[in-house]
Amino acid sequence: MSSDSSLSRLQINHVRNLLGVRLEGIQRVNVFFGQNGSGKTSVLEAIHLLGMARSFRGSIKSLVTHGQDHCTVFGALEPRSTTLGVQRGVTGEVKIKIAGSPVRTVAELVEYLPVQVINADSFNLLTGSPGARRQYLDWGVFHVEHRFFDQWQRFQRGIKQRNKLLRRVKMPTEELAVWTRELAQSGEVLSGYRESYFNRLTPRFIEIMAQLAPSLTGLELRYRKGWDKQLEYQQALENSTITDIEQGYTHVGPQRGDVRVLTEGHVAADTLSRGQQKLVVCGLKLAQGQLMAEMGRGNCTYLVDDLPSELDLQHSSLVCGLLAGMNAQVFITCVHQNDIQAVWPEEKQQELAMFHVEHGSVTPLAGGSSHLI
Ligand SMILES: Nc1ncnc2c1ncn2[C@@H]1O[C@H](COP(=O)(O)OP(=O)(O)OP(=O)(O)O)[C@@H](O)[C@H]1O
Ligand SMILES: [Mg+2]
Repeated sequence: MSSDSSLSRLQINHVRNLLGVRLEGIQRVNVFFGQNGSGKTSVLEAIHLLGMARSFRGSIKSLVTHGQDHCTVFGALEPRSTTLGVQRGVTGEVKIKIAGSPVRTVAELVEYLPVQVINADSFNLLTGSPGARRQYLDWGVFHVEHRFFDQWQRFQRGIKQRNKLLRRVKMPTEELAVWTRELAQSGEVLSGYRESYFNRLTPRFIEIMAQLAPSLTGLELRYRKGWDKQLEYQQALENSTITDIEQGYTHVGPQRGDVRVLTEGHVAADTLSRGQQKLVVCGLKLAQGQLMAEMGRGNCTYLVDDLPSELDLQHSSLVCGLLAGMNAQVFITCVHQNDIQAVWPEEKQQELAMFHVEHGSVTPLAGGSSHLI
Protein backbone atom coordinates (compact mmCIF):
# COMPACT_ATOMS: atom_id res chain seq x y z
CA MET A 1 0.00 0.00 0.00
CA SER A 2 1.33 3.43 -0.94
CA SER A 3 2.28 6.01 1.62
CA ASP A 4 1.94 8.80 -0.96
CA SER A 5 -1.31 10.48 -0.25
CA SER A 6 -1.07 14.25 -0.64
CA LEU A 7 -1.95 15.85 -3.93
CA SER A 8 0.38 18.65 -4.94
CA ARG A 9 -0.67 19.26 -8.55
CA LEU A 10 -3.78 18.68 -10.61
CA GLN A 11 -4.68 18.97 -14.26
CA ILE A 12 -8.38 18.70 -15.01
CA ASN A 13 -9.73 18.44 -18.54
CA HIS A 14 -13.39 18.41 -19.51
CA VAL A 15 -14.94 17.67 -16.12
CA ARG A 16 -18.32 19.45 -16.28
CA ASN A 17 -17.53 23.16 -16.78
CA LEU A 18 -13.79 22.72 -16.06
CA LEU A 19 -12.46 22.62 -19.60
CA GLY A 20 -8.78 22.84 -18.78
CA VAL A 21 -7.78 23.69 -15.23
CA ARG A 22 -4.22 23.47 -13.97
CA LEU A 23 -3.85 23.66 -10.21
CA GLU A 24 -0.49 24.17 -8.57
CA GLY A 25 0.35 25.12 -5.03
CA ILE A 26 -2.14 22.73 -3.50
CA GLN A 27 -1.68 22.61 0.26
CA ARG A 28 -2.92 20.43 3.08
CA VAL A 29 -6.15 22.42 3.40
CA ASN A 30 -7.61 23.91 0.24
CA VAL A 31 -10.69 26.11 0.11
CA PHE A 32 -12.57 26.63 -3.16
CA PHE A 33 -14.97 29.53 -3.06
CA GLY A 34 -17.19 31.06 -5.72
CA GLN A 35 -20.71 31.68 -6.86
CA ASN A 36 -23.32 29.05 -7.55
CA GLY A 37 -22.52 27.19 -10.75
CA SER A 38 -18.91 28.38 -10.87
CA GLY A 39 -17.38 24.88 -10.72
CA LYS A 40 -16.50 24.20 -7.05
CA THR A 41 -18.20 20.82 -6.79
CA SER A 42 -16.71 19.94 -10.16
CA VAL A 43 -13.20 20.39 -8.70
CA LEU A 44 -14.09 17.88 -5.96
CA GLU A 45 -15.61 15.58 -8.59
CA ALA A 46 -12.34 15.71 -10.53
CA ILE A 47 -10.34 14.71 -7.44
CA HIS A 48 -12.82 11.92 -6.70
CA LEU A 49 -12.43 10.72 -10.27
CA LEU A 50 -8.68 10.65 -9.79
CA GLY A 51 -9.04 8.57 -6.62
CA MET A 52 -11.89 6.23 -7.52
CA ALA A 53 -12.30 6.47 -11.33
CA ARG A 54 -15.94 7.39 -10.85
CA SER A 55 -18.23 10.28 -9.98
CA PHE A 56 -19.71 10.79 -6.50
CA ARG A 57 -22.84 12.46 -7.82
CA GLY A 58 -24.07 10.97 -11.01
CA SER A 59 -23.18 8.97 -14.06
CA ILE A 60 -19.84 9.31 -15.78
CA LYS A 61 -21.70 10.66 -18.79
CA SER A 62 -22.89 13.66 -16.78
CA LEU A 63 -19.34 14.28 -15.55
CA VAL A 64 -17.92 14.76 -19.04
CA THR A 65 -18.29 18.29 -20.48
CA HIS A 66 -21.24 18.34 -22.88
CA GLY A 67 -20.09 17.84 -26.44
CA GLN A 68 -16.86 16.04 -25.42
CA ASP A 69 -16.32 12.31 -25.51
CA HIS A 70 -14.07 11.95 -22.48
CA CYS A 71 -12.67 13.70 -19.42
CA THR A 72 -9.18 13.40 -17.96
CA VAL A 73 -7.62 14.17 -14.58
CA PHE A 74 -3.91 14.00 -13.78
CA GLY A 75 -2.44 14.46 -10.35
CA ALA A 76 0.94 14.32 -8.64
CA LEU A 77 1.18 12.84 -5.16
CA GLU A 78 3.76 13.82 -2.58
CA PRO A 79 6.20 13.00 -1.13
CA ARG A 80 7.36 10.72 -3.95
CA SER A 81 5.88 12.62 -6.89
CA THR A 82 3.87 9.59 -8.01
CA THR A 83 1.64 10.58 -10.91
CA LEU A 84 -1.90 9.34 -11.37
CA GLY A 85 -4.00 9.73 -14.49
CA VAL A 86 -7.62 8.76 -15.06
CA GLN A 87 -9.57 9.10 -18.27
CA ARG A 88 -13.24 8.23 -18.60
CA GLY A 89 -15.27 8.23 -21.78
CA VAL A 90 -18.99 8.90 -22.13
CA THR A 91 -19.54 5.32 -23.24
CA GLY A 92 -17.89 3.91 -20.13
CA GLU A 93 -14.24 3.36 -21.10
CA VAL A 94 -11.72 3.68 -18.27
CA LYS A 95 -8.00 4.34 -18.68
CA ILE A 96 -5.86 4.48 -15.56
CA LYS A 97 -2.16 5.22 -15.32
CA ILE A 98 0.00 5.08 -12.22
CA ALA A 99 3.50 6.54 -12.53
CA GLY A 100 3.01 6.58 -16.29
CA SER A 101 2.15 2.89 -16.61
CA PRO A 102 -1.35 1.65 -17.44
CA VAL A 103 -3.06 -0.44 -14.74
CA ARG A 104 -6.01 -2.75 -15.26
CA THR A 105 -8.07 -2.43 -12.11
CA VAL A 106 -9.60 0.42 -10.14
CA ALA A 107 -8.54 -1.41 -6.95
CA GLU A 108 -4.90 -0.61 -7.75
CA LEU A 109 -5.76 3.07 -8.13
CA VAL A 110 -7.87 3.33 -5.00
CA GLU A 111 -4.89 2.49 -2.77
CA TYR A 112 -3.09 5.65 -3.84
CA LEU A 113 -5.67 8.30 -3.11
CA PRO A 114 -8.27 7.14 -0.58
CA VAL A 115 -10.98 9.79 -0.86
CA GLN A 116 -13.80 10.44 1.60
CA VAL A 117 -16.72 12.63 0.55
CA ILE A 118 -18.81 14.72 2.92
CA ASN A 119 -21.61 16.44 1.02
CA ALA A 120 -25.36 16.92 0.94
CA ASP A 121 -25.88 13.32 -0.21
CA SER A 122 -23.92 11.91 2.72
CA PHE A 123 -27.22 11.61 4.62
CA ASN A 124 -27.71 8.51 2.53
CA LEU A 125 -25.33 6.74 4.82
CA LEU A 126 -27.96 6.92 7.55
CA THR A 127 -31.22 7.15 5.66
CA GLY A 128 -30.38 5.07 2.60
CA SER A 129 -30.29 1.33 2.03
CA PRO A 130 -27.85 -0.96 3.86
CA GLY A 131 -25.83 -1.05 0.62
CA ALA A 132 -24.52 2.45 1.34
CA ARG A 133 -23.39 1.38 4.81
CA ARG A 134 -21.76 -1.81 3.51
CA GLN A 135 -19.87 0.31 1.00
CA TYR A 136 -18.80 2.62 3.81
CA LEU A 137 -17.61 -0.29 5.94
CA ASP A 138 -15.85 -2.03 3.05
CA TRP A 139 -14.04 1.18 2.11
CA GLY A 140 -12.49 1.17 5.55
CA VAL A 141 -11.69 -2.55 5.63
CA PHE A 142 -10.15 -2.34 2.15
CA HIS A 143 -7.75 0.38 3.27
CA VAL A 144 -6.54 -1.33 6.43
CA GLU A 145 -6.70 -5.06 5.60
CA HIS A 146 -4.83 -5.96 2.43
CA ARG A 147 -6.30 -9.49 2.33
CA PHE A 148 -9.86 -8.19 2.24
CA PHE A 149 -10.15 -7.49 -1.49
CA ASP A 150 -9.26 -11.06 -2.55
CA GLN A 151 -11.86 -12.48 -0.17
CA TRP A 152 -14.41 -9.96 -1.36
CA GLN A 153 -13.81 -10.99 -4.98
CA ARG A 154 -13.93 -14.66 -4.04
CA PHE A 155 -17.24 -14.11 -2.26
CA GLN A 156 -18.72 -12.19 -5.23
CA ARG A 157 -17.72 -15.01 -7.59
CA GLY A 158 -19.18 -17.58 -5.21
CA ILE A 159 -22.53 -15.92 -4.79
CA LYS A 160 -22.90 -15.37 -8.52
CA GLN A 161 -22.27 -19.08 -9.14
CA ARG A 162 -24.59 -20.19 -6.36
CA ASN A 163 -27.40 -17.91 -7.56
CA LYS A 164 -26.97 -19.23 -11.09
CA LEU A 165 -27.37 -22.80 -9.83
CA LEU A 166 -30.40 -21.84 -7.72
CA ARG A 167 -32.15 -20.62 -10.86
CA ARG A 168 -31.57 -23.87 -12.78
CA VAL A 169 -34.78 -25.76 -13.57
CA LYS A 170 -33.13 -29.04 -12.66
CA MET A 171 -31.21 -28.45 -9.45
CA PRO A 172 -27.69 -29.97 -9.44
CA THR A 173 -27.75 -30.77 -5.70
CA GLU A 174 -24.13 -31.82 -5.39
CA GLU A 175 -22.80 -28.83 -7.24
CA LEU A 176 -24.95 -26.60 -5.06
CA ALA A 177 -23.41 -28.15 -1.94
CA VAL A 178 -19.92 -27.42 -3.31
CA TRP A 179 -20.72 -23.78 -3.94
CA THR A 180 -22.50 -23.44 -0.61
CA ARG A 181 -19.32 -24.63 1.12
CA GLU A 182 -17.16 -22.28 -0.95
CA LEU A 183 -19.47 -19.38 -0.17
CA ALA A 184 -19.58 -20.26 3.51
CA GLN A 185 -15.79 -20.11 3.71
CA SER A 186 -15.26 -16.82 1.91
CA GLY A 187 -18.32 -15.24 3.57
CA GLU A 188 -17.12 -16.17 7.04
CA VAL A 189 -13.65 -14.68 6.41
CA LEU A 190 -15.11 -11.56 4.77
CA SER A 191 -17.47 -10.95 7.63
CA GLY A 192 -14.65 -11.55 10.14
CA TYR A 193 -12.61 -8.77 8.51
CA ARG A 194 -15.61 -6.47 8.60
CA GLU A 195 -16.30 -7.25 12.21
CA SER A 196 -12.77 -6.70 13.48
CA TYR A 197 -12.59 -3.40 11.57
CA PHE A 198 -15.96 -2.42 13.00
CA ASN A 199 -14.73 -3.17 16.52
CA ARG A 200 -11.79 -0.83 16.05
CA LEU A 201 -13.91 1.86 14.42
CA THR A 202 -16.66 2.06 17.02
CA PRO A 203 -14.66 3.55 19.93
CA ARG A 204 -13.14 6.10 17.51
CA PHE A 205 -16.61 7.10 16.37
CA ILE A 206 -18.00 7.37 19.90
CA GLU A 207 -15.04 9.51 20.95
CA ILE A 208 -15.46 11.85 17.97
CA MET A 209 -19.20 12.18 18.56
CA ALA A 210 -18.55 13.14 22.18
CA GLN A 211 -16.70 16.15 20.77
CA LEU A 212 -19.04 16.92 17.87
CA ALA A 213 -22.35 16.49 19.65
CA PRO A 214 -21.93 15.94 23.40
CA SER A 215 -25.68 16.27 23.92
CA LEU A 216 -26.34 13.25 21.72
CA THR A 217 -26.18 10.58 24.36
CA GLY A 218 -26.79 6.91 23.82
CA LEU A 219 -25.30 6.74 20.32
CA GLU A 220 -24.50 3.21 19.35
CA LEU A 221 -23.24 1.32 16.30
CA ARG A 222 -24.21 -2.29 15.71
CA TYR A 223 -22.73 -4.61 13.16
CA ARG A 224 -25.04 -7.03 11.37
CA LYS A 225 -23.40 -9.95 9.62
CA GLY A 226 -26.34 -10.64 7.33
CA TRP A 227 -27.29 -13.94 8.93
CA ASP A 228 -28.34 -15.24 12.35
CA LYS A 229 -25.30 -14.47 14.50
CA GLN A 230 -25.86 -17.61 16.59
CA LEU A 231 -25.07 -19.74 13.55
CA GLU A 232 -22.03 -20.49 11.46
CA TYR A 233 -22.55 -19.11 7.95
CA GLN A 234 -22.52 -22.66 6.50
CA GLN A 235 -25.41 -23.60 8.80
CA ALA A 236 -27.34 -20.43 7.98
CA LEU A 237 -26.94 -21.15 4.26
CA GLU A 238 -28.14 -24.73 4.72
CA ASN A 239 -31.15 -23.54 6.73
CA SER A 240 -32.19 -21.14 3.99
CA THR A 241 -31.60 -23.49 1.04
CA ILE A 242 -35.29 -24.28 0.48
CA THR A 243 -36.25 -20.60 0.35
CA ASP A 244 -33.19 -19.90 -1.78
CA ILE A 245 -34.26 -22.57 -4.31
CA GLU A 246 -37.86 -21.33 -4.31
CA GLN A 247 -36.86 -17.74 -4.97
CA GLY A 248 -33.74 -18.30 -7.01
CA TYR A 249 -31.17 -16.41 -4.95
CA THR A 250 -29.09 -16.57 -1.77
CA HIS A 251 -30.97 -14.91 1.09
CA VAL A 252 -28.40 -14.82 3.86
CA GLY A 253 -24.82 -13.63 4.05
CA PRO A 254 -22.44 -10.66 3.94
CA GLN A 255 -24.40 -9.30 0.94
CA ARG A 256 -27.05 -8.51 3.56
CA GLY A 257 -24.64 -7.10 6.16
CA ASP A 258 -25.31 -3.71 7.71
CA VAL A 259 -24.13 -1.19 10.26
CA ARG A 260 -27.01 0.10 12.32
CA VAL A 261 -26.76 3.51 13.92
CA LEU A 262 -28.93 3.88 17.01
CA THR A 263 -29.57 6.64 19.47
CA GLU A 264 -31.00 5.61 22.84
CA GLY A 265 -32.04 2.37 21.15
CA HIS A 266 -33.92 4.09 18.28
CA VAL A 267 -32.92 4.10 14.62
CA ALA A 268 -30.86 7.28 14.17
CA ALA A 269 -32.25 7.96 10.69
CA ASP A 270 -35.81 8.12 12.08
CA THR A 271 -34.98 10.06 15.22
CA LEU A 272 -32.21 12.60 14.66
CA SER A 273 -32.69 16.06 13.15
CA ARG A 274 -31.07 16.78 9.79
CA GLY A 275 -28.21 18.64 11.43
CA GLN A 276 -27.66 15.84 13.93
CA GLN A 277 -27.71 13.32 11.09
CA LYS A 278 -25.06 15.32 9.25
CA LEU A 279 -22.92 15.37 12.39
CA VAL A 280 -23.21 11.60 12.75
CA VAL A 281 -22.21 11.16 9.10
CA CYS A 282 -19.22 13.48 9.65
CA GLY A 283 -18.34 11.47 12.76
CA LEU A 284 -18.48 8.19 10.82
CA LYS A 285 -16.25 9.53 8.05
CA LEU A 286 -13.76 11.23 10.35
CA ALA A 287 -13.49 8.06 12.42
CA GLN A 288 -12.44 6.13 9.31
CA GLY A 289 -9.72 8.65 8.50
CA GLN A 290 -8.40 8.66 12.06
CA LEU A 291 -8.37 4.88 12.20
CA MET A 292 -6.48 4.61 8.90
CA ALA A 293 -3.81 6.99 10.15
CA GLU A 294 -3.64 5.29 13.54
CA MET A 295 -3.09 1.92 11.88
CA GLY A 296 -0.21 3.32 9.84
CA ARG A 297 -2.12 3.18 6.57
CA GLY A 298 -1.57 6.81 5.65
CA ASN A 299 -4.07 9.61 5.47
CA CYS A 300 -7.23 9.82 3.48
CA THR A 301 -8.23 12.86 1.47
CA TYR A 302 -11.41 14.65 2.52
CA LEU A 303 -13.62 16.21 -0.13
CA VAL A 304 -16.06 18.39 1.76
CA ASP A 305 -18.77 20.05 -0.31
CA ASP A 306 -20.87 22.76 1.21
CA LEU A 307 -20.14 21.94 4.86
CA PRO A 308 -22.29 24.72 6.37
CA SER A 309 -25.53 23.41 4.88
CA GLU A 310 -27.63 21.97 7.73
CA LEU A 311 -24.97 22.85 10.33
CA ASP A 312 -24.93 25.89 12.59
CA LEU A 313 -21.73 27.88 13.09
CA GLN A 314 -20.81 26.12 16.29
CA HIS A 315 -21.11 22.65 14.79
CA SER A 316 -19.37 23.64 11.54
CA SER A 317 -16.48 24.87 13.72
CA LEU A 318 -16.38 21.60 15.61
CA VAL A 319 -16.16 19.59 12.37
CA CYS A 320 -13.45 21.94 11.06
CA GLY A 321 -11.57 21.68 14.36
CA LEU A 322 -11.40 17.91 13.94
CA LEU A 323 -10.37 18.16 10.28
CA ALA A 324 -7.69 20.70 11.21
CA GLY A 325 -6.39 18.36 13.91
CA MET A 326 -5.87 15.46 11.51
CA ASN A 327 -3.01 15.09 9.06
CA ALA A 328 -5.40 14.43 6.21
CA GLN A 329 -5.50 16.60 3.14
CA VAL A 330 -8.74 18.55 2.81
CA PHE A 331 -10.51 20.09 -0.18
CA ILE A 332 -13.46 22.13 0.94
CA THR A 333 -15.94 24.38 -0.89
CA CYS A 334 -17.96 27.43 0.10
CA VAL A 335 -19.70 30.32 -1.58
CA HIS A 336 -18.10 33.33 0.09
CA GLN A 337 -14.40 33.72 0.62
CA ASN A 338 -14.65 33.86 4.40
CA ASP A 339 -17.28 31.12 4.97
CA ILE A 340 -14.66 28.52 5.92
CA GLN A 341 -12.24 30.97 7.51
CA ALA A 342 -15.08 31.87 9.88
CA VAL A 343 -15.31 28.29 11.17
CA TRP A 344 -11.68 27.13 10.87
CA PRO A 345 -9.66 27.24 14.13
CA GLU A 346 -8.23 30.70 14.78
CA GLU A 347 -4.69 29.44 15.29
CA LYS A 348 -4.67 27.44 12.05
CA GLN A 349 -5.95 30.07 9.63
CA GLN A 350 -2.55 30.30 7.90
CA GLU A 351 -2.89 26.72 6.64
CA LEU A 352 -5.87 27.59 4.43
CA ALA A 353 -4.93 27.84 0.76
CA MET A 354 -7.67 29.82 -0.95
CA PHE A 355 -8.79 29.32 -4.56
CA HIS A 356 -11.35 31.45 -6.32
CA VAL A 357 -13.56 29.54 -8.75
CA GLU A 358 -15.25 31.54 -11.47
CA HIS A 359 -16.91 30.33 -14.69
CA GLY A 360 -14.90 27.13 -14.74
CA SER A 361 -11.50 28.64 -13.98
CA VAL A 362 -9.65 28.36 -10.68
CA THR A 363 -7.28 31.05 -9.41
CA PRO A 364 -5.13 30.72 -6.27
CA LEU A 365 -5.41 33.73 -4.04
CA ALA A 366 -2.19 35.56 -3.41
CA GLY A 367 -1.33 35.81 0.26
CA GLY A 368 -2.38 32.25 1.06
CA SER A 369 0.14 30.09 2.82
CA SER A 370 3.43 30.03 0.97
CA HIS A 371 4.95 26.64 1.75
CA LEU A 372 4.24 23.64 -0.43
CA ILE A 373 3.67 20.25 1.09
N1 LIG B 1 -21.63 17.88 -18.36
C1 LIG B 1 -21.52 19.19 -18.23
N2 LIG B 1 -20.94 19.95 -19.20
C2 LIG B 1 -20.81 21.27 -19.06
N3 LIG B 1 -21.22 21.96 -17.97
C3 LIG B 1 -21.79 21.26 -16.98
C4 LIG B 1 -21.97 19.86 -17.05
N4 LIG B 1 -22.57 19.43 -15.91
C5 LIG B 1 -22.73 20.54 -15.16
N5 LIG B 1 -22.30 21.63 -15.80
C6 LIG B 1 -22.25 23.02 -15.31
O1 LIG B 1 -21.07 23.17 -14.57
C7 LIG B 1 -21.21 24.27 -13.69
C8 LIG B 1 -20.50 24.00 -12.39
O2 LIG B 1 -21.23 23.10 -11.60
P1 LIG B 1 -20.82 22.84 -10.10
O3 LIG B 1 -21.79 21.86 -9.55
O4 LIG B 1 -19.38 22.50 -10.05
O5 LIG B 1 -21.04 24.29 -9.48
P2 LIG B 1 -20.78 24.80 -7.98
O6 LIG B 1 -19.74 25.88 -8.07
O7 LIG B 1 -20.51 23.66 -7.10
O8 LIG B 1 -22.18 25.48 -7.64
P3 LIG B 1 -23.06 25.49 -6.28
O9 LIG B 1 -22.53 26.61 -5.43
O10 LIG B 1 -24.41 25.82 -6.78
O11 LIG B 1 -22.97 24.17 -5.63
C9 LIG B 1 -22.70 24.53 -13.59
O12 LIG B 1 -22.99 25.74 -14.25
C10 LIG B 1 -23.34 23.37 -14.31
O13 LIG B 1 -24.51 23.73 -14.95
MG1 LIG C 1 -21.60 22.79 -5.61
